[in-house]
Amino acid sequence: MIKQTDIISNIATDTLRGLNSRPKFLLPKYFYDDAGSRIFQQIMQMPEYYLTQCEQEIFNIHAEALANAFNYGNPHNLEIIELGSGDGLKTKVLLRELLASQIKFTYIPVDISSKANELLVKSLKQEMPTLNVEPRTGDYFSIIKQLNGHAGIRKAILFLGSNIGNFPDDELHKFMMQLLSIANKGDKVLIGFDLKKSPAVIMPAYEDPHGRTAQFNLNLLTRINRELDANFEIHRFEHYTNYDPHTGEVKSFLVSNSEHEVHIKALDSRFKFSQWEPIFMEVSRKFDIESIEQLANKYGFAINGHFFDNRRYFANSLWIKE
Ligand code: AVJ
Repeated sequence: MIKQTDIISNIATDTLRGLNSRPKFLLPKYFYDDAGSRIFQQIMQMPEYYLTQCEQEIFNIHAEALANAFNYGNPHNLEIIELGSGDGLKTKVLLRELLASQIKFTYIPVDISSKANELLVKSLKQEMPTLNVEPRTGDYFSIIKQLNGHAGIRKAILFLGSNIGNFPDDELHKFMMQLLSIANKGDKVLIGFDLKKSPAVIMPAYEDPHGRTAQFNLNLLTRINRELDANFEIHRFEHYTNYDPHTGEVKSFLVSNSEHEVHIKALDSRFKFSQWEPIFMEVSRKFDIESIEQLANKYGFAINGHFFDNRRYFANSLWIKE
């Protein structure tokens, strides 16, 4: 019997599956090739993209409390595993705090972009030469499986930036099950959640005042052109985003502005687009505290505490495996 986890997932099979589905979709994890990771850095620097500023503020305000939260039990064998480390800017605050304490630990940044990982390790070597770093490149699910064997070592798993908001329900379930499979009793998890708030604050972060979010989405078509020998014409697609305050979901789409056909040679397939047909690209879900606590409890984690920025736009929620 084929288990879900045995099904090959890569840009070719996922693109074939996504473009053959109705409605069509692509997966946001493929945004982050080297060019896409660079565009995302620029998004994080937009004043409208409050998520990064808020989480940075949380790390600055609560650095000591966070470091203390990880300094518990057996302090000699701590692994700090960060899923989707990117440029690691927020984590550096915590790493500095931990280095100043007595804790012996290893930092394991996991990222899908090898370039992002390379740059992070380089800057860490310069800024914190005594830090133990063991980077891994790949998607969360395949790397998490490799981390399975580390029983007996105290783990702190970081999943920041509201990356968790990218998971549709079934993927969120899969992710939580994977988290469960590597968390031993007493291990801690710190997850960044963007919170529900005024749509007037949320929309500018995604509605693309500087054209970068459109670029970020369109870059995936360019990537498919390059890696799968396709002929997407970028100017045939418009970027569109909306927010549903009921579900807390920001959804983004690339909408075809004309009827046309795209040939993807590596998939030996042609895909028809009708005029105004959307490709669903990404969900960026916003949470409330109640649903965060329900999520933790459902999978056997107890809430250790929530850390907020001053405006309470964002929460870093700390969980402990029971
Ligand atoms: C990296 C998934 C947290 O959903 O806010 C930013 C990605 N997409 N602008 C988000 C993103 C459009 C981002 N995450």
